[in-house]
Amino acid sequence: MTVQSKPLDDAVGTGEVRFPADFTWGMATASYQIEGAVAEDGRTPSIWDTFSRVPGAVMGGDTGDVACEHYHRMPSDVALLADLGATSYRFSVSWPRVRPDAGPVNPAGLAFYDRLVDELLGHGIAPWLTLYHWDLPQALEDAGGWTNRDTAHRFVDYALAVHDVLGDRVPTWTTLNEPFCSSLLGYTAGHHAPGRQEGAAGLVAAHHLLLGHGLVTTELRSRGADRLGLSLNLTVPDPSDPDDLVDVDAARRIDALHNRLFLDPVFRGSYPADLLEDTSHLTWQRKPWYDVVRDGDLAITSAPIDVLGVNYYHGNEVSGHLRTDVVGVGADGPDRVAVSPFVGSEHVTFPSRGLPVTDMGWEIQPEGLHRLLRRLHDDYPRLPIYLTETGAAFADVPDEHGVVHDPDRIAFLDSYLRAVHLAVDEGVDVRGFFQWSFCDNFEWAFGYAKRFGLVHVDYDTQLRTPKSSAHWYAELSRTGMLPATESLGG
Ligand code: FCB
Repeated sequence: MTVQSKPLDDAVGTGEVRFPADFTWGMATASYQIEGAVAEDGRTPSIWDTFSRVPGAVMGGDTGDVACEHYHRMPSDVALLADLGATSYRFSVSWPRVRPDAGPVNPAGLAFYDRLVDELLGHGIAPWLTLYHWDLPQALEDAGGWTNRDTAHRFVDYALAVHDVLGDRVPTWTTLNEPFCSSLLGYTAGHHAPGRQEGAAGLVAAHHLLLGHGLVTTELRSRGADRLGLSLNLTVPDPSDPDDLVDVDAARRIDALHNRLFLDPVFRGSYPADLLEDTSHLTWQRKPWYDVVRDGDLAITSAPIDVLGVNYYHGNEVSGHLRTDVVGVGADGPDRVAVSPFVGSEHVTFPSRGLPVTDMGWEIQPEGLHRLLRRLHDDYPRLPIYLTETGAAFADVPDEHGVVHDPDRIAFLDSYLRAVHLAVDEGVDVRGFFQWSFCDNFEWAFGYAKRFGLVHVDYDTQLRTPKSSAHWYAELSRTGMLPATESLGG
């Protein structure tokens, strides 16, 4: 029996829904994806500058060298964010701008974020800062990157330098964006920078990222920060056949590696016992990988936080059998072959459910978001939750008048927001939503081929054109209300 994703409409209907008056309507970006100016004002290379030059690693050979030129267009971009109704802006700080080569603090690099924060506050937009959205200084990678425990301590040095300058004006500080990606995609799968395909290295990197998270959280709290957290990309794994023990086991393994590997050390101060068992044969430097976890580490990783950022795009049907009817096959992608990020569980497959997909080949599955939010509420401490990312890539093209109509993105956001609203109605403490992304940008291994923005970017001219979804989102932010779905224009 195949589990079909329940249509969300059955649960929430299609009528008008109203969000709480103080709900945050945000938009998100990340430094390497938008800034460009990679060699200006003292910045030195990050692992993404290096990785994007590896032949075949990024579609089209694209790099972040120019990106959206946000570094130079920041004031007008912030004015556009304000026009589009953003009440908060989630951005990340570039470590190699602030501490080039992980060396001394670079005041010119920090000055950019100083100006950005003032510009946001001047427009009434609350800054939401992420310290690490994947652009590790290459110099640290040369010393082992996140497989080197020392990187966690260098992360503290960098975080303190940022906090010294911005701590008085930024209310919300998140340490990591999606450590699943910066560990398992970067060090096991090789799909992301630094492109290593070293099995258990991904688990070692995950532990050091979590250690860095805990160390920074503790340090910033002792300096008075009181809204601290991190953003996890979580999934909803459903066994293909809930009566097949092999499929059920596969779904458990994905839950362990994608969700609990991060949630448990942060909220429970432990690694999941089943994950340790699944990976007990994996070694790092000829010892069990778990030997990198030292006494006292898990008390650090579980330093209390104040907000949980959830990034959710889709869940997965999961099978433990060799299946060829899987999601994403036939979708375009970089030439360089990545291996499975699910170290120790490489046999797991992800059958397609036949749901509609975005331009990434990702299934559109809003009801999974509702289940995820309920689960977090039921299984983990009840912190305020913010959806710190969701959104969709579609092949948006301006028409002959330069107008960009993106009804599919509006329908996507409408359905995901209905899932959030249902959870809020049921008592889950979700306080805000950050759309990924403010503007089209460098989509990692997919380069500029995938457009997630509310604002279209013409990369030849850098012209910004708000898409119809941007106007729709501005109205949503103004009214706090989703109109009945029959009113969604095509
Ligand atoms: C997330 C990343 C973000 C963006 C979206 C599409 O995994 O955090 O930078 O690339 O996916």
